[in-house]
Amino acid sequence: MSEKGKFYITTPIYYPSDNLHIGHAYCSTAADSMARFKKLTGYDTFFLTGTDEHGQKIERKAREKGVTPQAYVDHIVEGIQKLWKQMDIDYDDFIRTTDERHVQCVQKVFRKLYEQGDIYKSEYEGWYCTPCESFWTELQLKDGKCPDCGRPVEKAKEESYFFRMSKYQDWMIDYIREHPDFIQPTSRANEMIKNFLEPGLEDLCVSRTSIRWGIPVDFDSRHTVYVWVDALTNYISALGYGTEHDEKYRRYWPADVHLVGKEIVRFHTIIWPIMLHAIGEPLPHQVFGHGWLVIDGKKMGKSVGNVVDPVILCDRYSSDAVRYFLMREMPFGSDGEFTLKAMLSRINADLANDLGNLVSRTVAMIEKYYGGPVPASGACEEVDTALRGLALRTAGQVEEYMNAFQFSSALSEIWKLVGECNRYIDLTAPWILGRSEESRPRLNTVLYTLAECVRRVAVMIGFVMPRTPGRIFEQLGVTQPEMKDWNSLTDGVFEHLKPGTVVHKGEALFPRLDIQKELERDQPESTPAASPAPAAAAPKPQKTHPRTEYPENITLDDFGIIRLQAARVLSCEKVEKSKKLLKMQVSLGPDGERQVVSGIAAYYTPEEMVGRQVVMVTNLKPARLAGIESQGMILCASSKDDSALKLLTVDDGMEDGALIG
Ligand code: ME8
Ligand code: MG
Repeated sequence: MSEKGKFYITTPIYYPSDNLHIGHAYCSTAADSMARFKKLTGYDTFFLTGTDEHGQKIERKAREKGVTPQAYVDHIVEGIQKLWKQMDIDYDDFIRTTDERHVQCVQKVFRKLYEQGDIYKSEYEGWYCTPCESFWTELQLKDGKCPDCGRPVEKAKEESYFFRMSKYQDWMIDYIREHPDFIQPTSRANEMIKNFLEPGLEDLCVSRTSIRWGIPVDFDSRHTVYVWVDALTNYISALGYGTEHDEKYRRYWPADVHLVGKEIVRFHTIIWPIMLHAIGEPLPHQVFGHGWLVIDGKKMGKSVGNVVDPVILCDRYSSDAVRYFLMREMPFGSDGEFTLKAMLSRINADLANDLGNLVSRTVAMIEKYYGGPVPASGACEEVDTALRGLALRTAGQVEEYMNAFQFSSALSEIWKLVGECNRYIDLTAPWILGRSEESRPRLNTVLYTLAECVRRVAVMIGFVMPRTPGRIFEQLGVTQPEMKDWNSLTDGVFEHLKPGTVVHKGEALFPRLDIQKELERDQPESTPAASPAPAAAAPKPQKTHPRTEYPENITLDDFGIIRLQAARVLSCEKVEKSKKLLKMQVSLGPDGERQVVSGIAAYYTPEEMVGRQVVMVTNLKPARLAGIESQGMILCASSKDDSALKLLTVDDGMEDGALIG
């Protein structure tokens, strides 16, 4: 085991409601970067992530899709794991709340709390929507109606188990006051005490009889465990808590840090510690609440529909560049506005210019003046000593910032060194030194100093950009593992690189992007001129299909007047005051973007539509539906009585706007 001890870090377990967006990737990238940093600096690290798979929403979505909840979540989890792989999120374990190991652990914790009197049976009062068979809390209602179908709800009671949180309220307040590091950033600690603890804790509803897709309470199987007791327990179920094989639990618990978004700090700093305290287990050392990625000031989220897909960003700009941007752009703990323009500017300025140029200039000059082998350094002048001093200090500063979760400042320290290296090239002008034999000793010192600095930068950036160091080491000719190690930065000795190491010029690390072109890439050149249809042209709703009225023996010419194209749904929202209609923006690739309104709201949610490639009639006269212009029609198959409806979609891999026929 390592001398520095262990480090256990977690992300929240994500809801598999859809594919993840760049906001989720933000939390995972931070956790992964921190885990890599701790490994690099000598800790025995364990990094846990996973998925939160139970509940009514999943149950209902699966039913709509005609699959079992398990099949539904399996499919989504596969996509999530693929994304983490693409982004180099190198977790040590992935816990799913449907894993048998988790189910058993939750049942055990629940039973223990019940047996010692911390969980008791009572009644849960709420609102019931009969057609949906759903229980809702006061807060979940939308204008006093069912948030799902908009119909009226009735007051109802349901038998439930409750967790006696109120009993631990004073203990919790004292604990937070006495452990100022427990909640980070500290401002959130005051928020917890003032807003939630001092006003008084209510006992928490921890089981439901109306939700089937959940973990059964093993001594009362009409009940399933409700939300937070299930979800939070993942942090210990993954370690084998309460089983014969609890070596990991004994090694890694308590967690060093739970990284969570700020909206769930409350559950992690009140419910979770009280649960742990009640079962007699130690509390995590720290809960760090990070900020949100926002777009135009609004939290990026599936329900808002303003999500940015990390897969596309990584495909286009590389996962290292995306990770760098996420960790560099905004201070951890604060919200940050996500814009593509800001990302592209950072990639060009910091990666293509500063880092990319430093590496390529250094390697090119060593090839040019020495034919490949790195020269041995000569004596140092002031300018060399200054740069070497900075290089020696940087690793320590990075460590300090990382220990405070200041990813952005840590990177900014590394880039100060990169910047100073580039300035050093300009100051020492190696191309002039290279002209005469007398200045060879100076040239030796300058190019050795640069090569060693580049090596150090490569070692330091790897925890945020795991793929780039390898590419730099290859160009520098560095192969020995100890040259890639953090220890090679912190022993106070500057010269580690062996003279004679042979460099090879390689491809540019980060090619310069044409920002304007990239920004225009997702924008249509011109939207097709669709003449606004008169308001009176609203089509009469057709309930049943006039199947019998189709003529037989039509010709290809008859069929050919309908232009069908593959349309990608870019965004989608419900039409207010309509139960049936969804409004979508779709992309026809080179043919631009369109708005289309479709009567499918009862069958598909907006978030299910986004990203799909559907079949659209694109030469239909525009019409207005509920006052909104629809520039085309999306094709669906529907059963005779309209009880079922399925979209026609295009198999993967077809470009947007492709003609169908
Ligand atoms: O809350 N910016 O799951 P979740 C930054 N299952 N972070 C964001 C974000 C954004 N725009 N959008 C989401 C849950 N996140 C529960 C957790 S833990 C025992 C159970 C973050 O999928 C969000 O803040 O809704 C949260 O930390 C994480 O993604 C998971 O959110
Ligand atoms: Mg959420």
